[in-house]
Amino acid sequence: MSNKQIDWANIGFGYIQTDFRYVSNYKNGAWDEGTLTKDATIVLNECAGVLQYAQTVFEGLKAYRTEDGHIVTFRPDLNAKRLVDSAKRLEMPPFSEKQFLDAVDKVVAANEDFVPPYGSGATLYLRPYMFGTNPVIGVKPADEYQFRLFGTPVGPYFKGGAKPITIRVCDFDRAAPHGTGHIKAGLNYAMSLHAIVDAHQQGYDENMYLDSATRTKVEETGGANFIFITKDGKLVTPKSSTILPSITRRSLCYVAKEYLGMEVEEREVYLEEVKDFAECGLCGTAAVISPVGKIVDHGKDICFPSGMEEMGPVTKKLYDTLTGIQMGRIEAPEGWIRVIK
Ligand code: PLP
Ligand code: COI
Repeated sequence: MSNKQIDWANIGFGYIQTDFRYVSNYKNGAWDEGTLTKDATIVLNECAGVLQYAQTVFEGLKAYRTEDGHIVTFRPDLNAKRLVDSAKRLEMPPFSEKQFLDAVDKVVAANEDFVPPYGSGATLYLRPYMFGTNPVIGVKPADEYQFRLFGTPVGPYFKGGAKPITIRVCDFDRAAPHGTGHIKAGLNYAMSLHAIVDAHQQGYDENMYLDSATRTKVEETGGANFIFITKDGKLVTPKSSTILPSITRRSLCYVAKEYLGMEVEEREVYLEEVKDFAECGLCGTAAVISPVGKIVDHGKDICFPSGMEEMGPVTKKLYDTLTGIQMGRIEAPEGWIRVIK
């Protein structure tokens, strides 16, 4: 069991350095076999592609300690595939799914003491990423890259855990049509930094981004997709080519249909109709499902009937089922759980 002196129940979503990380380098057209290292520092040329033109993509997934004492990850194959999609869009060499899964297994096993205890509310967040390393001064892709994967124990993404948050409709855009909103590129998050600082200064927990072409449709937040529950109990989630295809959202749609017998609609969602939903939540690896109690649209409050005290009842059922699968309390669909130990 965990023997690190960490106050698991009270950690937030921050960086805690763990013992081992995985590194692989790409040079002369091939990735090397990769290795674990204790060195958390990266030394780069001053002109490295990542530093000049932000050529970097990443992923996020978690390792969980299950009720019966195993350590598992949740659908890491989908993270591996999405990293390949992200890399291709930024003209980076794909990192193979096999090597990605091997890196996940090795980092989790080597940092076993940092996997929080079952029931603590904390998990080991894993951050795989890759970036251009050689000097690039004309605007072009790098020729050499590094892939790294480290872990950090985390608690809830939003302070207050399962307490509903307040978000605002944002006037800044996150992603352009035919841009990079559908991949996990660092540049998308750089874009959102001013918007999130501004939102926090105004007293909001997050931003609701709209589609930048018409500013009428709900997209996502800076780090999670939306789910809505209709008054007659359907799950509705925005369909858009400019949002990240969330693995949590894809899993929740399946869970809603196959475990809870709900109807699921993945479709365009207009800001105009949001006031008619019964519940709203943000879903993602970091967010899990974070309930939204209120959305402020330029001074106009949209308050969900589920209120500001607790998660709505349908959101709670989805949350319990998803986390039940992740922590081994509920049988998972074939292939969703990768047992590491
Ligand atoms: N949308 C954005 C912008 C994100 O950064 C994330 C986090 O990964 C998500 C959605 C949720 O995706 P996932 O469920 O795969 O973690
Ligand atoms: C994740 O959920 O893994 C993310 O990358 C979101 C990020 C805002 C922490």
